[in-house]
Amino acid sequence: MSILVTGGAGFIGSNFVLDWLGACDEPVINLDKLTYAGNLENLASLHGDSRHLFVHGDIGDFAQVARLLAEHQPRAVINFAAESHVDRSIHGPGEFIATNIVGSFQLLEAVRAYWGALAEPAKAAFRLLHVSTDEVYGSLGKDDAAFTEQHRVEPNSPYSASKAASDHLVRAYHHTYGLPVLTTNCSNNYGPYHFPEKLIPLLIVNCLAGKPLPVYGDGQQVRDWLYVKDHCSAIRRVLAAGRVGETYNVGGWNEKTNLEIVDTVCALLDELQPRADGVPYRAQITYVTDRPGHDRRYAIDAHKLERELGWRPAETFETGIRKTVAWYLANQPWVANVLSGGYREWLAKQYGETA
Ligand code: NAD
Ligand code: TYD
Repeated sequence: MSILVTGGAGFIGSNFVLDWLGACDEPVINLDKLTYAGNLENLASLHGDSRHLFVHGDIGDFAQVARLLAEHQPRAVINFAAESHVDRSIHGPGEFIATNIVGSFQLLEAVRAYWGALAEPAKAAFRLLHVSTDEVYGSLGKDDAAFTEQHRVEPNSPYSASKAASDHLVRAYHHTYGLPVLTTNCSNNYGPYHFPEKLIPLLIVNCLAGKPLPVYGDGQQVRDWLYVKDHCSAIRRVLAAGRVGETYNVGGWNEKTNLEIVDTVCALLDELQPRADGVPYRAQITYVTDRPGHDRRYAIDAHKLERELGWRPAETFETGIRKTVAWYLANQPWVANVLSGGYREWLAKQYGETA
């Protein structure tokens, strides 16, 4: 038995693969295009581990995905692969449409063909788990109830619209073809191996580099934060016991304004690695122009996952953010390699300058 993970060299995917192989011996086939967000150094501890097979490729390549499925006969596919950064989707939505919509469609087609030809009991046991985001639900007002799975889908950015489109396709493949799918819609993640274009790792990296801490608009936007390893445990739980065709919201019950996040990260660094001049890191805060169409508030109601599958996050925000800051301090070479672009050298070495 094995599982096929897509996007397993990215932030959440690599945490998932590491946790999976930390907990069991079931092999993982890891298909990743290695965009700027894919980093094989995240998986360095698996070097030489025969339970992990990395495959460089695109979920949109039907023939390649079909070959992989036929060769390895996985019992499940977990789709993390996506373009994931809202700001990038504003500057250039094309890649988001290509991967998140068209790529997901091609993946679904390859999986449908593979699953359709499986014999029982493998066919009944097979699952496609699609990893999605709370951003598909749109933006909440200050006093609105948190997103449930019944909330209207109202995406506001090219990123969230492309994820919503893939969620719809996944749903349709279940209803039309009977494909045994599961979808998770999770809130903002943070933790190890987070690419420093997203808020929390960017703050840590910029604090240490003496650079400005850019706060968009008034900094009062609210996000619901979940430690990445809790997201991974939720995915494992949904994969193991989720009801086919269902959607599960995943969240940490940790709503924070962006300014609260900035203050927390600054305070932790003041404690763990104070500035040489003794000035608090907060002095580096800089208010910048707001993101166009910036969603004001996300909040996840994760009661369904708790009620049906007994899942709760293991970390509070306080424990998770402390672990995260400590991880970045202890892994400065990883950060330096990302900032220098050194992590992409493997691609050039393996595939030549054009890759
Ligand atoms: P990421 O950007 O860090 O990683 C994405 C990975 O997918 C990278 O390794 C990249 O190389 C790979 N990839 C991109 N296009 C591909 C393609 N066409 N074929 C194969 N691989 C491709 O993203 P992440 O933060 O790890 O997010 C993973 C998934 O979780 C995404 O689907 C995202 O929408 C979802 N999600 C993320 C968050 C969050 O806070 N980061 C929250 C909820 C849901
Ligand atoms: P981000 O990490 O990009 O996640 P998302 O947009 O998917 O929620 O941003 C989290 C919040 O932080 C969001 O409200 C935008 C804000 N933000 C800043 O204020 N400054 C920054 O430099 C970044 C990257 C984000």
